[in-house]
Amino acid sequence: MILIVSDTHCYYDTVNRQIEYAENVLGHTISCVIHLGDFGIYKAQLKEYFKKKKNKFLKPLYFIDGNHEDFKSLHSLVEVYEDYFTYLPRGTVHTIGGYRFLALGGAAYMDSMITARESVITDQQIDACLAIPREDVDIIITHDCPVGIGVPSTPGLEHFGDTGFPRSDELAAHFKPKMWLFGHHHKWFHTSDDHTLYYGVSGVWKGFGLLDYDYHMSMIQNPVSWKQTTALERFFIKLRIIRPGNPEQGKI
Ligand SMILES: [Fe+2]
Repeated sequence: MILIVSDTHCYYDTVNRQIEYAENVLGHTISCVIHLGDFGIYKAQLKEYFKKKKNKFLKPLYFIDGNHEDFKSLHSLVEVYEDYFTYLPRGTVHTIGGYRFLALGGAAYMDSMITARESVITDQQIDACLAIPREDVDIIITHDCPVGIGVPSTPGLEHFGDTGFPRSDELAAHFKPKMWLFGHHHKWFHTSDDHTLYYGVSGVWKGFGLLDYDYHMSMIQNPVSWKQTTALERFFIKLRIIRPGNPEQGKI
């Protein structure tokens, strides 16, 4: 069973707490984790959690980028931490747990004042996805949601208009995937059309999804508390060295 989480925003330990809950309380066997963006690729936090405190994820973890990552250092950091987690670049297909996932991180609908320009999905990246044959993809994983499926706006961000990223409708029409998973909006969401089951996963601090065989998905609510922001983190945020987008402040 694959554990589906999103929006860790540097609070990496919440992932392990949800794995423990899924295995020890619910009695499931988790093979790996797929993280749907806003993982928290920031040098200081990664170093603190993985190198200094010598933590590891309890299961192999694959992630796509969101809009709250350090994009300038993303490629170097994912190499440094390749023994700890695996990055799925935009426009690439990966077979995990028997499914073929098309990965497309990034976002369009977001709190732009604290969001890096590199987080925006480009036409080139959409074109790269559309060049992949339809039959090569089972499930699309994105950080932002597709347009036109009815994901509600986040209070304070209504000026962005309807949720979803441009040209996602072209991806839906081309691939007609069996399933499309996304995060970013910090809301549980589910709908379907003739071809596709759509699931929006809430932030990891609220729970997770469980993807079983034959596209069976369960949404598990299990709130876990965030630890307080440390003095070091507050210092880096003040210097604008990191921008973790603290979900407690409603940042998506
Ligand atoms: Fe986000």
